[in-house]
Amino acid sequence: MKQVNFILRLLIVLMAVLILNSIISAQQKIKILIVYYSLTGTTEQMAIGVKEGVERDSNATATLKKVDEVTSKILNAVDGIVLGSPTYWGNISNPMKKFLDDIGFLGDKVGGAFATGAMKTGGKEHVVVSLLLALLMKGAIIVGPVYDFGAFQSGAFGASAMTGPPDNGVSELELEDARKLGERVATIAGQMKSGTAVNVKTHSRQLPKGFNLQQNFPNPFNPETKINYELPNRSRVLLKVFNELGEEVRTLVDKEQFAGKYQVQWDGRDNNYKHVATGVYFYQLSMEGAAQTKKMLLLR
Ligand SMILES: Cc1cc2nc3c(=O)[nH]c(=O)nc-3n(C[C@H](O)[C@H](O)[C@H](O)COP(=O)(O)O)c2cc1C
Repeated sequence: MKQVNFILRLLIVLMAVLILNSIISAQQKIKILIVYYSLTGTTEQMAIGVKEGVERDSNATATLKKVDEVTSKILNAVDGIVLGSPTYWGNISNPMKKFLDDIGFLGDKVGGAFATGAMKTGGKEHVVVSLLLALLMKGAIIVGPVYDFGAFQSGAFGASAMTGPPDNGVSELELEDARKLGERVATIAGQMKSGTAVNVKTHSRQLPKGFNLQQNFPNPFNPETKINYELPNRSRVLLKVFNELGEEVRTLVDKEQFAGKYQVQWDGRDNNYKHVATGVYFYQLSMEGAAQTKKMLLLR
């Protein structure tokens, strides 16, 4: 009987520890809030894309809120905020403007923005820039596309979708940009919170000693993988992906780069942004006087 009692107590203690642990780890997760206004649903679709992107980061959680649902309590509890608005007359929609007028200081939260608009040149970028500037003026650290890290395919400053004719609605490419935005905001918010955001001074003093191409990760992969490499000195750099027949599939880097550590993401698309098939691919990094090749496996 005594033994049964002891085991029961042990179990209760164990369960309490487990529950406590999960509460603590949930609290430590990076929280990203996505705030949007949407009348006919396209901006909402992009907002859902951003949420999916945030959730690609296993350390982050995302909450979707319509612009009139946000309270200061919700706002205070998050590490990052992503704003989305349709374009109305080349400008931010009024409900989002009101929201921006009402919110206070966002000190050190990470911010990003996205927009929709019916026309190709109808002001979407203007909306994204205005949203980002509003976030910046409220103390946020704003992030956008990072060219060596998988640039957005539409939109120069944030994700954006052209929702009018001829294609009507949000395309997969535009949704993927929304996901990339979410992922990027979550990554930077995580780095800010843990204090691992790159310190430019220390970083630049620790220059790599050799030319080094690392194994991609994840590998095998689907749909994206990351490739790290190090350059010991400034050089013209080429990073290309080839198929098994030795045909070039994608140029990931083609430019002059300083000595340092770099990370490039490959989204499994060729130079025409078409998805490539399952298979073995080679990636080759070359700089003046040196080249290295490694193998990776894409499994669709
Ligand atoms: C009053 C009004 C003004 C608009 N002005 C523009 C505009 O200046 N430029 C543009 O590209 N689209 C404009 N649009 C189209 C919307 O931005 C577009 O349909 C958007 O995707 C709608 O987002 P929602 O589906 O989230 O409501 C306008 C729409 C309305 C209703």
